[in-house]
Amino acid sequence: MRLSRYFLPVLKETPSEAQIASHRLMLRAGMIKQASAGIYSWLPLGYKVLRKIETIIHEEQARAGHLPVLMPTIQSSDLWQESGRYDAYGPEMLRIRDRHERDMLFTPTAEELITDIFRAHVASYKDLPLTLYQIQWKFRDEIRPRFGVMRGREFYMKDGYNFDLTKEDALHAYNRHLVSYLRTYERMGLQAIPMRADSGPIGGDDTHEFLVLAETGESEVFYDSEITELKFGAREIDYDSHDQCRAVLEEFTSRYARTDETHDEAVFAERVPEARRRQARGIEVGQIFYFGTKYSEPMGATVQTPDGKSVPVHMGSHGIGVSRLAGALIEANHDERGIVWPWEVAPFQVGIVNVKQGDATADAASEGLYKALTAAGFDVLYDDREERAGAKFATMDLIGLPKRVTVGPRGLEKGVVELTDRRTGESEEIKPELVAERLS
Ligand SMILES: Nc1ncnc2c1ncn2[C@@H]1O[C@H](COP(=O)(O)OP(=O)(O)OP(=O)(O)O)[C@@H](O)[C@H]1O
Ligand SMILES: [Mg+2]
Repeated sequence: MRLSRYFLPVLKETPSEAQIASHRLMLRAGMIKQASAGIYSWLPLGYKVLRKIETIIHEEQARAGHLPVLMPTIQSSDLWQESGRYDAYGPEMLRIRDRHERDMLFTPTAEELITDIFRAHVASYKDLPLTLYQIQWKFRDEIRPRFGVMRGREFYMKDGYNFDLTKEDALHAYNRHLVSYLRTYERMGLQAIPMRADSGPIGGDDTHEFLVLAETGESEVFYDSEITELKFGAREIDYDSHDQCRAVLEEFTSRYARTDETHDEAVFAERVPEARRRQARGIEVGQIFYFGTKYSEPMGATVQTPDGKSVPVHMGSHGIGVSRLAGALIEANHDERGIVWPWEVAPFQVGIVNVKQGDATADAASEGLYKALTAAGFDVLYDDREERAGAKFATMDLIGLPKRVTVGPRGLEKGVVELTDRRTGESEEIKPELVAERLS
């Protein structure tokens, strides 16, 4: 992409309504624009990040054997009457009436709709296990939308639902989700810690939330400091193996880590040596639930067992805050000059700054690099605008691309360009034809 042809409406001033770094930086970097309270448009740079996050989620869900679907945002109230949640949900649900006076709603989550799909098409244990998921917009009429996309009213969420014959199988699905989520967050360069949580309006017994530690997080958390040393890493896992998935769950959840809703000071003191007790704040970027037959029973989602009986399926639901992740990633990765994207989710991986646009040699070298890096498979943003070098550097720092290549007549006389790392600030002089190799 050439910056002269891109749409990157960066703001010079810091927007006064933004209280936390990620919100400020997303507005300043031209990633989002507020449409109304808690509702945002995603501009090209922001949308690119959102899609990269989404792609990682899809890839990791596929690896775990989960199948993508897409369900509507507008649903009829009928199914919600059946489950009993239409009245229980309260004012967070956006209720809509259509021209025929039918009660509709904008989906805050989709347990009912997916259970309806399941009961219409699945009748036998032979079709289990089954996990379906979607990445779709949700609406919750939050009392206090704030912090930009972190607590929106409309937000983008991955929501997955498992259907299993037995509780044991459903708990395996739970563990499988835990593993796939650990991998998903780590691929984004994020550490998200599974913590014991409260189940809220979704309902259920077993539930963990995934929290990214951050001072600006809305949740208060208590944990054993040893837990921050755990890494899933590059290990291979057989998602069909109950034992392997359970072992990962045990490894990542045996140490004390709870949100304020489930925190117990006495247990904390008893189980964790004082030197390792931590109290901090965190951003909830995901949650997994096992809730058994809470929806399948009232909604009649049953299957035939091998011996011919009819039983309600065991279910769970599992969510990732896709749009919130864009903010959480920035909370975890920024400095005083702007965003510092991890490579995997960066909107572009490399920025080329031509410090003397209009100079024939600099232009030719920049063009050459742009073509070569693009051909080598990198996502490149070439700043080809007629702008001062200082302004170009400031823009690159603000939008936080991991690598910057600076091209100017002085370096080119020596046959080199400068390759700079956004995170460390370290630079090296390098021949233009070696940049692609160096980056890979
Ligand atoms: N208002 C929101 N804005 C942005 N993301 C959200 C919002 N509400 C929930 N999410 C994200 O969707 C994920 C799954 O939804 P879930 O039903 O668990 O939310 P929740 O527990 O009600 O969230 P919270 O406690 O933050 O209100 C959450 O872990 C979070 O990352
Ligand atoms: Mg939650």
